[in-house]
Amino acid sequence: MSQTQDNLIVVLDAGSAWTRVLAADLNEGALRYRGHGVVESAGMRKGLISELGPAAKAVKAANEQAERVARANIDECAVGVGGPHIRGLNTNGRLDIGSRMREITREDVRAVVERARAIERPADREILHLLSRQFILDGQPGIFDPVGMVGACLEVDLHIATCSGSALQSTVTCANRAGLEVTEAVLESIAAAEATLSADERELGVCLLDVGAHSSNIVVFFEGAVAHTGSVPVGGAHFTNDLAIGLQMPVAQAERLKRQYGHCVVTAVPQQATVEIANPQPQNLPLRTVAEILEPRARELLYYVKENLRQGGVVDALGAGCVLTGGGAMLPGLLDVTESQLRVPARTGMPVRLSNMPGELVHPSFATVIGLLLYAHRTRVTRAAENNSLRAKLRAIFASSY
Ligand SMILES: Nc1ncnc2c1ncn2[C@@H]1O[C@H](COP(=O)(O)OP(=O)(O)OP(=O)(O)O)[C@@H](O)[C@H]1O
Ligand SMILES: [Mg+2]
Repeated sequence: MSQTQDNLIVVLDAGSAWTRVLAADLNEGALRYRGHGVVESAGMRKGLISELGPAAKAVKAANEQAERVARANIDECAVGVGGPHIRGLNTNGRLDIGSRMREITREDVRAVVERARAIERPADREILHLLSRQFILDGQPGIFDPVGMVGACLEVDLHIATCSGSALQSTVTCANRAGLEVTEAVLESIAAAEATLSADERELGVCLLDVGAHSSNIVVFFEGAVAHTGSVPVGGAHFTNDLAIGLQMPVAQAERLKRQYGHCVVTAVPQQATVEIANPQPQNLPLRTVAEILEPRARELLYYVKENLRQGGVVDALGAGCVLTGGGAMLPGLLDVTESQLRVPARTGMPVRLSNMPGELVHPSFATVIGLLLYAHRTRVTRAAENNSLRAKLRAIFASSY
């Protein structure tokens, strides 16, 4: 196996159902798939790590699969963070530049963002992302980057995405125990958005709903910026458990039934349609009975989503509708329930395809891990650009002092 290569980018999505590792490298400026590993998650409960040992073992197994395919040693990665502990809030800050107008510097931007983030937050909250929604210069809103503009008063509207500090620490510890150093933590919904949304959708207003196994992550973009982030405690596993309880069958059988015959709009299922099942006793089960169990759960999920959007003040900001991704988005009828509950158009979010990537990864359940890779790549490019400009500045300073 070759040594870790400098241009290899690796990401880890330790989901509540599946643990995924994806590796890519840069080939003539474009990301090229190198390898991936997927194993069933372990040591998870209600979307959180409940036992470090089994969770770390799953990460190690997924990483070893990725290493074999990529033919490289992997010892660091970016991780996704998601789940019911995610909360977002909007704040603002203001910086008076002085009595006279002058050019806005990078330091002014840092200072105004610092003021906006200096809010009281509960002890166990970690900031994952500080996302500027807009800058306002001398009352003129809608500014994306004010550096170099001239003014006397700079304001910022900021979105702060936070997570539970202990949940984040558990994810990092779990990766460490699997032999991986964590280079950065990224909100899973923002990653999934990276892989599925178009620039137009972000501009017009869109809700990305990542339906995982134990929770569903939400991010809303409006006018090109993140306007809201959140999570609701319902995911695909709740649908499966409802079937297992309602039809008195093992969870594994309920999962198969849901995937093969599930639908969450009762009236869309033909009245006579049945499926032969062996448990709890041999019978022809009407598919409408299955849909009658799934539909209320789908309505509940979308009810929580709507409430979450209402609390975030973005329920009327979805000009481009709602995009459903994550494995749970594959449930037939969920798009219809979304459209009728949120009263906006809905579509399935398929992730973009990296060069060389196997076709099986072009599936909503891979949107987060592919998005993590795109995000980690962008971070690397931005850092390299910053380093270059710093180096250029230093060169200029040294050149002028001789
Ligand atoms: N074809 C399908 N039809 C219906 N549901 C599906 C289908 N395929 C996968 N699912 C559901 O998707 C869920 C898993 O989705 P995903 O792999 O995105 O979760 P995860 O990332 O591991 O979890 P989380 O994001 O909550 O941490 C499971 O509940 C599974 O039942
Ligand atoms: Mg997920």
